[in-house]
Amino acid sequence: MARRSTSYVCQSCGAITSKWMGRCESCGEWNSIVEEQTSGGGGIGGGPGRASRSKGRVVPLVGLSGDTKEAPRIQTNVAELDRVTGGGFVRGSALLVGGDPGIGKSTLLIQAAAQLANLGHKTVYISGEEAIGQVRLRAERLGLGKAPVALAAETSVEDILATLEADKAPAMLILDSVQTLWTDQVDSPPGTVTQVRASAQAMVRYAKKNGTTLVLVGHVTKDGQIAGPRVVEHMVDAVLYFEGDGAHQYRILRSVKNRFGATDEIGVFEMTGKGLQEVSNPSALFLGDRTTSAPGAAVFAGLEGSRPLLIEIQALVAQSSLGTPRRAVIGWDSARLSMILAVLEARCGVRFSQHDVYLNVAGGLKINEPGADLAVAAALISSLSGLALPANCVYFGEISLSGAIRPVAQAQSRLKEAEKLGFDQAYCPEGNLKDGATSALKATGLPELGDFVAKLSVQASVSGDS
Ligand code: TYD
Ligand code: MG
Repeated sequence: MARRSTSYVCQSCGAITSKWMGRCESCGEWNSIVEEQTSGGGGIGGGPGRASRSKGRVVPLVGLSGDTKEAPRIQTNVAELDRVTGGGFVRGSALLVGGDPGIGKSTLLIQAAAQLANLGHKTVYISGEEAIGQVRLRAERLGLGKAPVALAAETSVEDILATLEADKAPAMLILDSVQTLWTDQVDSPPGTVTQVRASAQAMVRYAKKNGTTLVLVGHVTKDGQIAGPRVVEHMVDAVLYFEGDGAHQYRILRSVKNRFGATDEIGVFEMTGKGLQEVSNPSALFLGDRTTSAPGAAVFAGLEGSRPLLIEIQALVAQSSLGTPRRAVIGWDSARLSMILAVLEARCGVRFSQHDVYLNVAGGLKINEPGADLAVAAALISSLSGLALPANCVYFGEISLSGAIRPVAQAQSRLKEAEKLGFDQAYCPEGNLKDGATSALKATGLPELGDFVAKLSVQASVSGDS
């Protein structure tokens, strides 16, 4: 009989303390420490028992080069999903798909499961949240009822492992969700860090041993962490986040960790009555039905991962009646906005101190690329002067505190994307044109923000005269 002991585990970071505290010393989270029972023998991770630990086993040590084949991948033929995983799911790897409740994780995965099953890969989908009837109903609605997916509603890790071991190992195993899993190796209730960690570990071990691709679904808490098991993020090979907001139809699958591919890749989907549809041309989605004649709108030629994306930046500059004018930003960094306002004021003499400034990224997207600086500056100046920017023009470039416009990565592919969507002018950093970025677009290279402001005011006076 294993010795039982009580420990106090932070549900946010997994740190263990010997006494209860109101605040975790390791991650600073309040009220996250919970009393948990751990059996002395199994250890928190549910690893091998003490008896087997004492007998050391000789492991062969090998060199770095060898005849290990290139990690074979299984492709789903959902191009947006394959892009994010870096070209398909790697066999024997474990992935964590996180996202807010109701964002569409189960929908995405049942669709992927059906695709894989239709392609002839053995696919098992285990739902710990929904009853079989509910999953079937959804599959039926999505028109996937005929796909040969093996389905079960189960939460016990031991039962799941016994079921899997009774038959040929599947190519793909989906567990929805990791928070509902529990193993009798540990005594804590399901959903606690100890349970989630032990269950995930057991499943990851199974996947590695059998060459099965394991997909774990994880919920995200209000502040954006995968609930409880941040510890799980270290255990898996890839972490994907499924994001989007309730008010918009589009969803973004973003890779934040990937041992077998690039991170920061995104896949774009649209939630429709028939489930998630791939969006192969996201720029068109984010530009939407643009009314081009309004002042304060500038199109930013951005980059998400390796993929160029055109996004509209909207600014509204209005006379302020407040002592301290308002600055409100949605979809961008407010500190960055203050910086651009300060540079415009100090280096170019454009004053906003008597004005409220509102900035919005169209479509509800969040950008955190400094390359958007120039587009933001253009939108601000356009709104302040009340003159619309040319409709066929895109902007990108990072603005430094000195007012210089610094080059950004992958100018060429940004220009190409703009050209593809029918734009024929671009304002970009001069440095980017020097290193040979050319296209059919009329690209104007800018060394300084001052030059840009001067160019805009010339444009304004020309259009004002006509
Ligand atoms: P779901 O996949 O259950 O979310 P999660 O697993 O992340 O909690 O998605 C639920 C939402 O998706 C629900 O609010 C309804 C919407 N939805 C559609 O709009 N169309 C569809 O075809 C489906 C299946 C769901
Ligand atoms: Mg779900």
